[in-house]
Amino acid sequence: MLNIVVCVSGGGTNLQAIIDGVEKGTIRNTRIIGVISNNAGAYALERAKKAGIPAFSISPKNFESREAFNRAFLDQLEALEPDLIVLAGFLVILPEKMIEVYRDRIINIHPSLIPSFCGTGYYGLKVHEAALARGVKVTGATVHYVDEGTDTGKIILQKAVEVLEGDTPELLQRRVMEQAEWIILPKAIDQIAGAKG
Ligand code: GAR
Repeated sequence: MLNIVVCVSGGGTNLQAIIDGVEKGTIRNTRIIGVISNNAGAYALERAKKAGIPAFSISPKNFESREAFNRAFLDQLEALEPDLIVLAGFLVILPEKMIEVYRDRIINIHPSLIPSFCGTGYYGLKVHEAALARGVKVTGATVHYVDEGTDTGKIILQKAVEVLEGDTPELLQRRVMEQAEWIILPKAIDQIAGAKG
């Protein structure tokens, strides 16, 4: 059984795709043992609670220093003992120690075809704004392992999505989620769980 912790910051639609995948059995051999948000108001926490998954919120704002937050965040993770940490729209820079401790056990979903529109400053809607500004005709999403860089880790899965005439960042974001993110993130977790046996 692959025990996963999902880290979130916002709406949690990717978290929902994982919850649904585990329930339907398209993600096999996997249990979501916790959801951690850096934002107490994140709707993702409601999704976790509705699914009966332990949900925690731990915000840098409530700590006197970044170091204190990093330590508390790592303690929280360690207490859960995950086999895999899934960043599903988690907009916090990870503590270096976390990358060291969980090397090859952290994956992230990014809403573009890496290496396009990724790295520092490219997150959420900004990614789709940049893709539209550049006029690309194809974009997509990437699941990758997390290393010390920003969006530089080994790529696990990618899926392309067409950009359509008249797209706004919001329309494109939704299409990338529906046609790519909600498919490849559950699939990557299933693959990793399968490899674990
Ligand atoms: C998703 O589009 C995810 O790919 C993106 O944030 C959104 C979260 O949505 N992540 C990044 O941009 C990371 N660089 P969700 O909370 O509904 O899953």
